[in-house]
Amino acid sequence: MNHLEQTVIKDKKVGLRVDLNVPIENGEILSHERLSAALPTILYILKHTKKLCVITHLGRPREGEFDINQSVMPIKKWFEKRLNLDIELLNNFENIPENICFMENIRFFKGEKDNDKNLSMQIANVFDVYVMDAFATAHRSAASTFGAIELSKNACAGLLFSDEIKNLESALEENKQILSIVGGSKVSTKLKVIENLLTKSSSVVVGGGIANTFLKAAGKPIGNSLVEDNMLDTAKELLTTNKIILPKSVYVAESPQSNQVNLVSVEDVPKNKMILDIELNEEIIPVDHEYIIWNGPLGIFEIDQFSNGTKQLIGFLENSKSKVIAGGGETLFAINKFSETNKFHYVSTAGGAFLEYLSGNKLPSIEALRLK
Ligand code: 3PG
Repeated sequence: MNHLEQTVIKDKKVGLRVDLNVPIENGEILSHERLSAALPTILYILKHTKKLCVITHLGRPREGEFDINQSVMPIKKWFEKRLNLDIELLNNFENIPENICFMENIRFFKGEKDNDKNLSMQIANVFDVYVMDAFATAHRSAASTFGAIELSKNACAGLLFSDEIKNLESALEENKQILSIVGGSKVSTKLKVIENLLTKSSSVVVGGGIANTFLKAAGKPIGNSLVEDNMLDTAKELLTTNKIILPKSVYVAESPQSNQVNLVSVEDVPKNKMILDIELNEEIIPVDHEYIIWNGPLGIFEIDQFSNGTKQLIGFLENSKSKVIAGGGETLFAINKFSETNKFHYVSTAGGAFLEYLSGNKLPSIEALRLK
């Protein structure tokens, strides 16, 4: 794989695919992490050439239609301010200026989603160098994340992309002492992640709704908790690895809206109550691992009274001597909400792509870059 720092870009026309897919409400950007994470690559390129065209998607608009609510205009303005530069906003690849510019939401373009050859070629041919820095979109085989890399005469990974791969690869290498922590609501959506992490880790701690299904499979009473009965056999089979660590105490209530919350042992969950959060303690988080990989909240953290497990975990991870790698959409949201120091070894910018990577799946953009 070619990396940006080893690629000659001096005075070249550079196309840069980034993932600036951030929540925007009434023109206001609600989360800036992905924008800040894209800055080092943009600044690096601008040091070597002024001819830079930044390409991103935003949301999931209908292809072939312009939708003002999904325009990248607010993002372009954010970069204009940060870089103290005027940036032109383009809506086609025909006349790319010799100065920094932004392309309108690439998902407005017909053929982006289906990796259309014409669009891929158009993108690939208009630039001397195509830099892929959108790790968070590396799991999509779209024209700008796959075809354009394949067809470009000179494509490389950007600084963020290289960094993401380096950190994830080094954590998941053979013979590392890894503890994995997987939360979230459903076993079915995380099954491949759990299965793959079980092969790499000495233990996998489960939390969130996922823990309910494992607790039921282990014969514990779970009252009215949400559970995936169709995953019980799978959960039983995974428990035979003896690597799955279940919560010992949980927070229960009649419903997520209820104000009466009790902390009980997993042996004593009342019939009319639901498990909505877990209590985390050192008993269930073994120490002394070189790496800890974390994905998914441990309770309904959006509701204050069910955010204990997730908050405790963040505090524990921030003080851990292990190298902590965290990622995933809700995980990033929880870190932003509760982390005071953000002392994690590495927080990935990716949501779905992080899960695909943890599942052991090949990511199309990585594969395309590897062939360059
Ligand atoms: C993300 O936010 O996970 C990425 O930008 C990918 O977005 P998508 O799921 O709409 O492809």
